[in-house]
Amino acid sequence: MKIYIVEDYQQLSAKAASIVASQVILKNNAVLGLATGSTPEGMYSQLAQMNREGKVDFSEVVTFNLDEYLGLSPDHPQSYHYFMHHHFFNHVNVSPRNIHIPLGQAKNIAEFCLEYEQKITEAGGIDLQVLGIGANGHIGFNEPHTYLKLQTHAIDLTEETIEANSRFFFSPEEVPRQAVTMGMGSIMKAQRILLLASGKNKAPVIKETVSGKITTELPASFLQLHRDCTLILDKEAAALL
Ligand code: PGA
Repeated sequence: MKIYIVEDYQQLSAKAASIVASQVILKNNAVLGLATGSTPEGMYSQLAQMNREGKVDFSEVVTFNLDEYLGLSPDHPQSYHYFMHHHFFNHVNVSPRNIHIPLGQAKNIAEFCLEYEQKITEAGGIDLQVLGIGANGHIGFNEPHTYLKLQTHAIDLTEETIEANSRFFFSPEEVPRQAVTMGMGSIMKAQRILLLASGKNKAPVIKETVSGKITTELPASFLQLHRDCTLILDKEAAALL
């Protein structure tokens, strides 16, 4: 793992944006795996600015998002469809036909998951996968469990994740109990992985991710096995390294 420790959230966002932008400058039709959550918001806003200033062109880029809540319509303000358009797609020139986000309301979820995985393969696989990390070690919505799944699938969210994400909803009861997520295999097959973590509540899980046991009880620990995984951490998230 390559680890960059930066001063604060602003520097983390700038560094992450410059890595994503260089990927797109190197390969204008790059396939990007994208994440939601509060951590990448700053990165998206910096990328939008770079796009406005003509420093990076997303017109040929293809994107695949990691996950979506099951049951939420794409226009629900807490859906990841809404998040991605609000924070990124509405501000950059990614072509709508190149945007892929799991559908939380697919009629046949199993079939949808198979098709999503096929689309990633047909696009040539993911060149650069951006990840956040849950305080419980989840990546995407691959939650700690006795086993993990390889491919895109529907999953029950843990109480810890429901609690953590309730800050975006009016109450914990409103948080969907299930989600669709790319699997561990879909993530690990990416050519490069970029994981972002900010704040002191992420320090324990970052320590375990970097140097703990590789275990399905901490899905992010599998990143130790990836041949090109970069972590960008602010000082607080890196405090226990
Ligand atoms: P956060 O979420 O960026 O809002 O901390 C990360 C995650 O749960 O994957």
